[in-house]
Amino acid sequence: MHIIIRPTADEVAIAAADILIDHVRRGATLGLATGSTPVATYKQLIRRHRAGEISFADSRAFLLDEYIGLPPEHEQSYHHTIRHEFTDHIDIDEAGVASPDGMAADPYAAAAAYEQAIIDAGGIDVQLLGVGTNGHIGFNEPGTALTMPTHVDTLHPQTISDNARFFDSAADVPIHVLTQGLGTIQRAGHLVLLATGEHKAEAVASLAEGPLTAMCPASVLQLHANATVIIDEDAAGGLRNLEYYRFVEANLLKR
Ligand code: GLP
Repeated sequence: MHIIIRPTADEVAIAAADILIDHVRRGATLGLATGSTPVATYKQLIRRHRAGEISFADSRAFLLDEYIGLPPEHEQSYHHTIRHEFTDHIDIDEAGVASPDGMAADPYAAAAAYEQAIIDAGGIDVQLLGVGTNGHIGFNEPGTALTMPTHVDTLHPQTISDNARFFDSAADVPIHVLTQGLGTIQRAGHLVLLATGEHKAEAVASLAEGPLTAMCPASVLQLHANATVIIDEDAAGGLRNLEYYRFVEANLLKR
């Protein structure tokens, strides 16, 4: 796991955008995340697209997850959110931005169809990830099998309360979701996880230095041969091996 520590959240976004742009230049299939953390990275990518530096015309994208029961036009559906925050502002083909169908009559069949669509597209080249305060990635809550494909999950009360800020009340947060599984995520070529702020310090310490366990779904990154974790100083606060990560960063052997 390559851990990159930057002084501020803005610098985390700049570092993440640099990595994503490298992939986009090669026509990558992108795995996109919602939540507040990647928003600054999306702003960087939009800015650099507007500056004429990068085109997304040869890329397509798969979202990580979706709430069950929110129609695509609902403001808090991830289908809507990713368009509003990112893909409506770049030149990616709108038809190439896929997300699990949260309104499917049979969500279990929708999960299987989404997994197959990712396989049919040749897989995801680079998967952007945030992390929940309880260590979840996508909507894979603690206890989810480390090998799961895209599936139906039930949100943890902690996640419902964390995400209530986007809704009128916690009672409005859907309880059920469709999410790429930890198995799906592990098949992406490059994982790029972002975390900023002191409230993420515990989750970051667990995923990077804790045991590999389904109780911290993000610890599955320990199994991936190409995982990059980009965090700010606040989110790095719980790491024990911090000085070594800084040493590695200062002495990178360039390819
Ligand atoms: C949601 C999303 C996750 C995201 C997490 C953290 O639950 N499903 O993909 O990583 O929230 O969100 P934030 O970045 O807002 O802290």
